[in-house]
Amino acid sequence: MRERKPFVGGNWKMNTNRTTSADLTRGVVDALAPVTGAETAIFPPFPYLLAVRSILRDRGSSIRLGAQDCYHKPDGAFTGEVSLDMLKDCGVEIVLAGHSERRHVIGENDEIVNTKLKAIVDAGLTAVLCIGETLDQRESGHTDPVNQRQLRAGLADVSADAMERVIIAYEPVWAIGTGKTATPEDAQDVHGKLRKLLGQVYNADVARRTRIIYGGSVKGANAEELFRQPDIDGGLIGGASLKAPEFAQIVKGAAASAKA
Ligand code: PGA
Repeated sequence: MRERKPFVGGNWKMNTNRTTSADLTRGVVDALAPVTGAETAIFPPFPYLLAVRSILRDRGSSIRLGAQDCYHKPDGAFTGEVSLDMLKDCGVEIVLAGHSERRHVIGENDEIVNTKLKAIVDAGLTAVLCIGETLDQRESGHTDPVNQRQLRAGLADVSADAMERVIIAYEPVWAIGTGKTATPEDAQDVHGKLRKLLGQVYNADVARRTRIIYGGSVKGANAEELFRQPDIDGGLIGGASLKAPEFAQIVKGAAASAKA
C-alpha cells in the first residue's frame, strides 16, 4: 500500500452550463459512490460552484470542490477577479495554479503563478501547481530544465510545512487535449526527477509525502497503467472528466494503483 493517497481532479475548464454542470455532478457522485481509496475533486467554472457544492452536500459526497483559478488579493478594485475568501465562502477547498492554459493562453508567468500559489496555501487551501514543457521544449531537449525551473519558481518562498497543502501536476503541454499521452515510462522519468528535486529544495520527508499527479489526455483506458508508476500519484483530467463513467473509470484506476 502506498503512503501517498492518490488524487484525481476533474478540471471542467470553460465547459458545461447550469443544467449540464448539475447533471455531471450527480453523475459523478453516483458513479464514484462505491469507489474508495482515492481522493477526488471537481473543478467547475466559477458560476456553478455554489450549485455544485449544494449537490455534493445534499448527497453527502466526499468529492472535494475545486476552483480553476483565483486572484491573490483579498478584496478591492480588481474588476473581474475572484478572491480566495470568495472561493472559500463557496465551499472551495482546492485551487489550481499555473494551469498550462493560464500560462500559454492567458499569459501568466512563473512569478504570477508563485504569487497565486502562496496566496492559496496562506488561505489554508490546497494548491495544485501545474507545470509542463511545450512540444518545442521537449524536442529541443529542454524537458528537465523547464520543469525544474517551473517547480522551483512556483514554490519560491513556500515553506516545508506549507507543502502539506501543495499537489504538483506534471502536464506536458503537448499532451493536453491532444489525445497524445506521455508513455508511463516517460512520465515516470519526469515525476522521479521532480520528486528528487523536492528532496533537494526541501527535505526527504516533503519529497516522500508530496503527491505528483500526471495530466494530459488521461482516459479510462490508460489511467491505471500511468498511476501504477511509482512516482505518479493520480491525475488531473480535462476532457475525460466531462463524462461521469469515464471519469469514474479513471478514479477506479487510481484506487487500484494505491493497492498495487
Ligand atoms: P486533458 O486536459 O485531459 O483534456 O488533456 C488535462 C488538463 O488540462 O488538466
